[in-house]
Amino acid sequence: MAGTTEQQRFAAPKGTYDVLPPDSGRWLAVRELLLWPARRAGYGYTEAPIFEDTALFQRGMGEATEVVSKEMYTFTDKGDRSITLRPEGTAGVVRLAIEHGLQNGQLPAKLWYAGPMFRYERPQAGRYRQFQQVGVEALGVDDPALDAEVVALGSRAFGALGLSKVELLLTSLGDPQCRPAYVARLQEFLQGLPLPDEDTRRRVALNPLRVLDDKRPEVLEMLVGAPVLTDHLCDDCRAHYDAVREYLHELGIAWKEAPTLVRGLDYYRRTAFEWQHSGLGAQSAVGGGGRYDGLSEAIGGPPLPGVGWALGMERILLALDAESTDERPVGPPVPPRCDVYVVALGAAAKKKAVVIVDALRAERLNVDMSYGDRGLKGSMKGADRSGAHTALVLGDRDLAEGVVQVKDLKSGEQRSVPLESLVEELVHR
Ligand code: HAM
Repeated sequence: MAGTTEQQRFAAPKGTYDVLPPDSGRWLAVRELLLWPARRAGYGYTEAPIFEDTALFQRGMGEATEVVSKEMYTFTDKGDRSITLRPEGTAGVVRLAIEHGLQNGQLPAKLWYAGPMFRYERPQAGRYRQFQQVGVEALGVDDPALDAEVVALGSRAFGALGLSKVELLLTSLGDPQCRPAYVARLQEFLQGLPLPDEDTRRRVALNPLRVLDDKRPEVLEMLVGAPVLTDHLCDDCRAHYDAVREYLHELGIAWKEAPTLVRGLDYYRRTAFEWQHSGLGAQSAVGGGGRYDGLSEAIGGPPLPGVGWALGMERILLALDAESTDERPVGPPVPPRCDVYVVALGAAAKKKAVVIVDALRAERLNVDMSYGDRGLKGSMKGADRSGAHTALVLGDRDLAEGVVQVKDLKSGEQRSVPLESLVEELVHR
């Protein structure tokens, strides 16, 4: 119709989601808990940009990987540079470490990060196009004890959340000494199989380890007897892998040998691992990582070995839901948004109320108040909804008498408290 414009309603883009209260409180509590083991182990917070030069990811993660070849959000900016929204955090952290010369400081440089990653994947339960990871990277030292520390920090994080259905899968992917010979052997084996489709046959040439990851029963049947990498490690890699397992054993961390575990990124060498949750269906990996000696050189840096992991927030929240029951919620307690809710009735009372609210907040109580002159009934509804345990009701008459009504919102009990002792009393409560 002439003169009218159709109003477009917007929704979050496909494969993304919004986080908002009250769920966001749980979200933050989970993230905090996941990171505590790393903080206690001396990992320091780091933040790299959300976008980097496209070539960083191409060289760092490998052009043959699905993530780089199919899933990157890449665009040309106004300065004609090719930019990519980070699909993962490791390449950016290693770039940052090189740029700031961390290899010249105390090693290992221990870093943690948290934030959104972007992959153009087909969205489904537990798989998003923008998703949140928390990650750690330990750089500059090649010591199997450090691999074990990194793995332990992740396993302890899942333990701290109270998750019981998380399994650690572990393997060694060898190194440039031993992997090429193994890959040739595997390719020879795979070429002798009547593989069902062109895609899989192409994978034999490009990324044969991936074929081992096929989930179709008819393919799995053919793969019985395929050579596995852990049987073909060179002496150094074998010794490294044995040492990692010994440390994990000493730490009392259980794992399952997973010689066909394939990580989706090409930078891994030697140790590789994944945590899987049995209650999540197809997207079962709640975290993963490994050692990536050689990544620094691949992006033009000095030799800088490294080991790390990233955990997927969305899948961890789904795992907590899967293990929770009404009687037994699994996960950290969510701190209340509000302890004390203040209701002022009348203009003079309101002026006093804003000062009381401020004073209580200064004492580190979570305090909110009723805005918008909603009357006693409406304001008390607000108090109930806030989750507070205590409401303060202040009318102009209370003010004249120098008191506040303090109401316990659970028991309904109410009493007058002199204004001058109010803050002290609530703080001690
Ligand atoms: P990744 O295995 O690609 O590793 O991702 C780690 C975790 O992120 C996965 O286990 C999963 O929980 C979560 N994740 C991945 N893609 C998605 C998605 N589309 N939607 C929801 N969650 C997802 C890395 O990213 C490496 N940078 C880990 C690492 C750090 N390796 C060494 N250091």
